[in-house]
Amino acid sequence: MDSVNASESETQQLTLDVEIESFFESTPPLKDSAGVQKKLHDFIKFNSSPPGCESGRRVVCVTCGGTTVPLEQRCVRYIDNFSSGHRGAASTEYFIKAGYAVVYLHRRETCQPYCRYLPEDPFLECFEFNKESSIQVQPSYSEAVRRAIGDHHAAVAEGRLLKIPFTTIFEYLQMLRIIAMSMKVLGSHAMFYLAAAVSDFYVPWKSLAEHKIQSASGSLDMQLAQVPKMLSVLRKEWAPLAFCISFKLETDSKILLEKADMALKKYKMHMVVANELLTRKEEVTIVTNNGNIPVHRDKTQPCSDVEQPLVELLVHKHSAYVDDSDT
Ligand code: PMT
Repeated sequence: MDSVNASESETQQLTLDVEIESFFESTPPLKDSAGVQKKLHDFIKFNSSPPGCESGRRVVCVTCGGTTVPLEQRCVRYIDNFSSGHRGAASTEYFIKAGYAVVYLHRRETCQPYCRYLPEDPFLECFEFNKESSIQVQPSYSEAVRRAIGDHHAAVAEGRLLKIPFTTIFEYLQMLRIIAMSMKVLGSHAMFYLAAAVSDFYVPWKSLAEHKIQSASGSLDMQLAQVPKMLSVLRKEWAPLAFCISFKLETDSKILLEKADMALKKYKMHMVVANELLTRKEEVTIVTNNGNIPVHRDKTQPCSDVEQPLVELLVHKHSAYVDDSDT
């Protein structure tokens, strides 16, 4: 029985490896892959022995926002995955506060670190003309703008924040692979915090129409292929010593914890953060091999968020993991 199971799982693994390989082979190449690799190399080198610090900083890759699936090569239409980017942006701020350097792999035009308290719509509400016709910040936003500029500039100036944008599933997975392979040298000091909402289905690049699909020919029939889950290859090959946290989003609370536990075991994650769409800003559950840990926003504080206690807990767990790996 055991040997049957073993060969079954070997076959599944082989199929997945082939799917992953063919995904990357058929993917349109990144525009500036060499440039991204250089930035990552410099960022990791800098944070391995930052000036004035006795030891290197831990580095976390925070993924954030939804990936898109283009329906045409010269893309006019696409399928999107929901994510405002708030989770990743807020978490990035708390990781930096905890002493980490952050590679922020984020969807273009989603929420950015340190900008959460600025108005999105319209952004120009922040500014006004003074008597000399110069531009000044509206007094009601001055504290938020001051904080955003100060904290953001400090994070960048200290070399703690590297932002890498993506839009499509093709860009996201290629970037994730490059980042993971660059972070491999950090061993257990690296962390992956995979909060991005990643497409499960896509149209392979070669099957896409080059030009805008015409509506004159009636209803549209399209076959979507499954995006291979990259979590197991991330754990096994790209960054085998890194501390890996994935997320599980469901809209049905009855299946949430069970699905998170399945992901924990199947992909050998160190932890899975389970969240429900409607309550995701109030509470999450960290699912681990040693039981579940509920984490709540502190409701007694008006501007509190759930990312603060979540990141504090994960930083603590990561420290224990690093200590274990060092002994
Ligand atoms: O951005 P906000 O509005 O603040 O919302 C935050 C969030 C709800 C998006 C976030 O907390 C969250 O739950 N993100 C993961 C959502 C998701 O896509 O879940 P999933 O069940 O599809 O994927 C689970 C994990 O597998 C994810 O960590 C994902 O990175 C990974 N995955 C998914 C698909 C795929 N083909 N490959 C993957 O590696």
